[in-house]
Amino acid sequence: MCGIVGYIGDRDCADVLVDALSKLEYRGYDSAGIAVFDKGTIKVEKCKGRLINLVNKMELEGKPNGHCGIGHTRWATHGEPSDINSHPHGNKRVSIVHNGIIENYKQIKDFLIGEGYSFVSETDTETVAKLLDYYYVDDPIDTIIKVISEIKGSYALGIMFRDYPDRIFAVRKESPLIVGVGENENFLASDVPAIIKYTRDYYLLEADEIAVVKKDGVSIYNTHKEPVKKEINTADWDVDAAEKGGYEHFMLKEIYEQPSAVRDTISHRITDGMPDFSNDGIDMEQLKKYRQIFIVGCGTAMHAGMVGQYVIEKLARIPVIVDIASEFRYRDPLITDKDLLIVISQSGETADTLAVLRLAKEVNAATMAIVNVVGSSIAREADMVVYTHAGPEISVASTKAYMVQISVMYLLAFELAYLNGAISEEMCRKLTEELKSMPDIIKETLELKDTCSYVASKLMNAESLLYIGRGLDYALSMEGSLKLKEISYIHSESYAAGELKHGTISLITDGMPVIAVATQKKLIEKTISNIKEVKARGARVVLICADGVEVGEDVADYIIRLPQVDEQLMPMVAAAPLQLIAYYTSVLKGNDVDKPRNLAKSVTVE
Ligand code: G6P
Repeated sequence: MCGIVGYIGDRDCADVLVDALSKLEYRGYDSAGIAVFDKGTIKVEKCKGRLINLVNKMELEGKPNGHCGIGHTRWATHGEPSDINSHPHGNKRVSIVHNGIIENYKQIKDFLIGEGYSFVSETDTETVAKLLDYYYVDDPIDTIIKVISEIKGSYALGIMFRDYPDRIFAVRKESPLIVGVGENENFLASDVPAIIKYTRDYYLLEADEIAVVKKDGVSIYNTHKEPVKKEINTADWDVDAAEKGGYEHFMLKEIYEQPSAVRDTISHRITDGMPDFSNDGIDMEQLKKYRQIFIVGCGTAMHAGMVGQYVIEKLARIPVIVDIASEFRYRDPLITDKDLLIVISQSGETADTLAVLRLAKEVNAATMAIVNVVGSSIAREADMVVYTHAGPEISVASTKAYMVQISVMYLLAFELAYLNGAISEEMCRKLTEELKSMPDIIKETLELKDTCSYVASKLMNAESLLYIGRGLDYALSMEGSLKLKEISYIHSESYAAGELKHGTISLITDGMPVIAVATQKKLIEKTISNIKEVKARGARVVLICADGVEVGEDVADYIIRLPQVDEQLMPMVAAAPLQLIAYYTSVLKGNDVDKPRNLAKSVTVE
């Protein structure tokens, strides 16, 4: 949420900042701005709208000319998207960009107004900029230490002081920030994709570490102003991973990357045909001893947790509670030191998920994180980390991250089930073997793209539609429905098929599309009854089922048949077609697929 960049070196700073911001637009895109040292002054350019608006503005009015500066792309929290509320904020002496929320900004603002300061924006960020100015005498580090001792909330800050045109400053708490280390040039960024074109090396800043970033070096201090020695991290993926690579949208590219992402995630966690988490440092014998498992996440990650719940309960016979992080954290949950919490997060920075992790740690529950971004807050704080290897996911609508998250859920379920004696070694091997074949099967399902595009053409004018399914198909429908509404802006709900008649069926009108997912043999008859109920009331039904299943052609208006695998694994087969249906609906509607309205990819605020 909000993207921050910074640059100091020999290149044209405005160009680097804009280029780096273009890789962070997924974090927020309702306004953009940069500040650059230009002939001894801090020159700011900012405006409402996408980054391209800023680029156009600078083309007309001229861009700041210099080699040191900061930039921002915003997802509004305090104050609507507008030129004035855009970052950077500050005055002639101090300029800042901020990601996060300053919870006590109102008190600080009132105090500063009493001290004679005036404010032009509605943002919490401007209060931090003015507080920095208020305390600043001549030492930026002292000033930053003082300010972070007074502000409450979450922040990643890129800061410039007019008197120090050869450096930028940075500090973070809760919100992510890295310092990219180049040759005779250095960077700030919220995330690696922003800098990968220039360098793979970076420092991860810990909470309240203050970075002083100069052209020829980076110094990091703690809040006692003592230097901190840090290890350099190296990103293990290349520039292409953060580019569209010939695809029209990142989302489509990421859908197509799913086979390799799954392969990269599971292959090194299978030894001699059996699941093996020893390289992750996980003691599975210990894991099976927990009283129950809680799986918590937000959005798509939570939906991956729902699949996890079904398969762990079904195979390993361990009770699993799955929940939305923003609900779980405030329900005074019954989690104890006898339980295991699994949090799932692509970014590893989602504020609610991080809060749940901390809450579990307070009661000494064991914690495991399934995370994509290496070194992210959630990864750093969990007792155990299982990294997914999806590579960078840029499109706001999550696809490959979901697929790899569920692949990890399966491996965990298989091993837990085997260790619990709930399935035989033979069965565990068989399931693991089948999971290993999933990359090829997913590839096969991607060949359904024309079918999905055809279905999308039938949905695109709908005002509202329903996804229905039972069991694992219900979990999958939840994700299918979320994908569609995120990017097509068509209202859609996912309902447990058997629950429809308890209220929701009253929404069915003539011609309303219903997408029925029915991949589970044991439940197919039941789901078909539900399909008949909605068809009898005028619904147009798209049925998604496995190849081997016998259903009359007249059951649905359109049938998508999927390769048949073990039915536990069918969510991995059905996910891509559901993603493609959402994708093509969005494309046909002419929407901005990768940057849907009102959303942001990494939600670092509550
Ligand atoms: C945002 C994104 C979703 C994502 C959710 C959780 O809402 O738009 O795609 O599923 O956050 O993100 P996480 O990074 O924790 O998986």
